[in-house]
Amino acid sequence: MPPPVAAGMEQPPALEMASLAEKYRPYFAVGAAVDPQAFDTHGKLLKTHFNSITTENAMKFESLQPTEGQFDFGRADAMVSSAKAQNMKVRGHALVWHRQTPDWVFVDAEGKPASKQLLRGRLESHISQVVEHFKGSVYAWDVVNEAIVNDGTYRSDQEKEDIDKSRWHGIMGKSYIAAAFRLAHAIDPQAKLFYNDYYNYIPEKRQAIYRMLKSLLADGVPVHGVGLQAHLSIHSSPEPTHHGHFQTMGNLESAIELYVSLGLEVQVTELDVSVYLPGVKYAPEQYFTTESFGAKLREEQAKRYGELFALLRKHHRAITGVTFWGIADDNTWLSEFDSKRTDFPLLFDKQHRPKAAFQAVMGF
Ligand code: G3I
Repeated sequence: MPPPVAAGMEQPPALEMASLAEKYRPYFAVGAAVDPQAFDTHGKLLKTHFNSITTENAMKFESLQPTEGQFDFGRADAMVSSAKAQNMKVRGHALVWHRQTPDWVFVDAEGKPASKQLLRGRLESHISQVVEHFKGSVYAWDVVNEAIVNDGTYRSDQEKEDIDKSRWHGIMGKSYIAAAFRLAHAIDPQAKLFYNDYYNYIPEKRQAIYRMLKSLLADGVPVHGVGLQAHLSIHSSPEPTHHGHFQTMGNLESAIELYVSLGLEVQVTELDVSVYLPGVKYAPEQYFTTESFGAKLREEQAKRYGELFALLRKHHRAITGVTFWGIADDNTWLSEFDSKRTDFPLLFDKQHRPKAAFQAVMGF
């Protein structure tokens, strides 16, 4: 058991750094979300440490069918081709989501809300064309993303504080969920079909997802797995009423065990560990910088990653993949909220060097 590297004393990039994917090959695939430039900008890390990719945005509805009937597979095909050239698996993300879906999908020719029948037809057309196009290249799909909200209810078109609405549910009710899985399976019976969501560690949400999946499975809907996005922070929220308060390994383990009890696979699909605590309001002068992201925080992040991967190894028989939502700290969605608020959520720093978190994940 090599001692963790003292934070701030990251090793210079070793010529032949131990590979994350190789270390975890006996346990599960290790992936990263990639943008179209990643195979150039982060090529060495991708090649060394990952054996799976998820296209961060290129396979979303707005990217593939920006206008009705006009499909644009170019960017996604290039990424799939690069992944195949490196024997990497490809996860498709995401067939149905309330975000990054063009407005035209939900309105009719007069600009009025689309009928249930019209929207059902568009759902069928999109999924059929997309799943057919990537058949044989994409081994797993995030079929439906984020259909349940934190209080355990279906995301709908009702006003709810801090909750994005779902026009899918607003027009079709929950029927869009089963329809999406059935359509995807009919086109590609080999693909593994996942329900993907975040904050699955919140008990109400965890149970609601369980009830939904149990009902779908009872109706013969082909769901094969659950995606735990796992956008985590270095600590749970100190505020007991904040959802981040439930962000504990115990709650994550309960979620894994609950979904496994349905006979489902589990994958971690969008892993990152933010240095900001959930529920805490940071003034700009409190934002972290490369300098202030110091030894203590690096060690706390390493500890969080270490305990998470110990949990994932414990359940590796049910966990078939762990995907990071990015490759290195120089390119993370968490630094895109606010140009001044940068985050440091991944295993490699802005110079692509391994952090204490990397050592913690590898050190077993
Ligand atoms: O493509 C446009 C570009 O034309 C335009 O110039 C540019 C500036 O406005 O925006 C570009 O679109 C951006 C898109 O990413 C592609 O880069 C959107 O503004 C931006 O909001 C979008 O952010 C993505 C976000 O989902 C959208 O909700 C993030 O990159 C992506 O990491 C994030 O990923 C989601 C998962 O899909 C689902 N789970 C949550 C996760 C984090 O939100």
